Amino acid sequence: MTNRNQLLKIFKKAQKENYPIFQFNFSTVEQLKGIIEGVKKFNCPIILGTSEGESSFLSLEVAVEMKKIAQKALGKNKVFLNFDHGKSFDIISQAIKAGYDMVHFDGGNLDLQENIKITKKIVEYGKKRDVVVEGEVGFIEQSSVIHKGKPKIKLENLTDPDDAKLFVQKTRVDSLAVSIGNVHGVYQRAENFKLDLERLSVIKREVGDDVFLVLHGGSGISFNQLKKSIEKGIVKININTEIRTAWRKALEKSLKNSPNEITPYKLMSSVTEAIQKTIEKKLKLFY
Ligand code: G3H
Ligand code: ZN
Repeated sequence: MTNRNQLLKIFKKAQKENYPIFQFNFSTVEQLKGIIEGVKKFNCPIILGTSEGESSFLSLEVAVEMKKIAQKALGKNKVFLNFDHGKSFDIISQAIKAGYDMVHFDGGNLDLQENIKITKKIVEYGKKRDVVVEGEVGFIEQSSVIHKGKPKIKLENLTDPDDAKLFVQKTRVDSLAVSIGNVHGVYQRAENFKLDLERLSVIKREVGDDVFLVLHGGSGISFNQLKKSIEKGIVKININTEIRTAWRKALEKSLKNSPNEITPYKLMSSVTEAIQKTIEKKLKLFY
């Protein structure tokens, strides 16, 4: 079975049986090591993600090799690599040539027709090269950092169900990122944060089962909200900020506890452990 078909089959099963496939983003070795250790005891496939920034830091080629290493280390857990939030055909085709298994075109801030046009081109290019393509309708706000205050969601950025339907029909995209109140990053004061699940239900009704719905901005969303979103059609959940936060906190602690230490692996072992725990905590909720 081709790589593309394997991933589509994994999405299909998750969609039918109501559990999520997680995407975990990384840009460093200790992050990837933590993800690998965290996934090990679970029986689940995973998607590794690198954004434009993350992959330009690593280089596309290194990211692809790191994914291969992760696959070797994980053995039974199938591992895929997604080029996350690609902003142009150019960069996405480079990622495909480098060996990514999946690509996400982030055209959510474009005019719908322009978004359809570029996504369609990427779908045609990607499918021929055995790659799964994710599109986006609606704009997912913010970036993967800790934000002060409460999330402010602009109504005009949420996914319009009719737009989503037209987008899927015209592009034949494999998966679709939706904006339903989800934002990138974690808000310090987001205690009662709620997704627009009604909107999600309507989107799902309009697009049907042939496209797999994706929830970006998965960090900081409660188990309850995640679970409800899966029941209403979400298949893939992207997590980045929680991994970044674990990385930063553990590194700060490590540096504070050992002010004279200069051996990277001695400073970094607790960072890897912190990421491992973050991943385990997330996977334990659903596997
Ligand atoms: O594409 C990556 C994700 O949407 C990550 O979102 O940083 O809020 O976890 P997050
Ligand atoms: Zn995202």
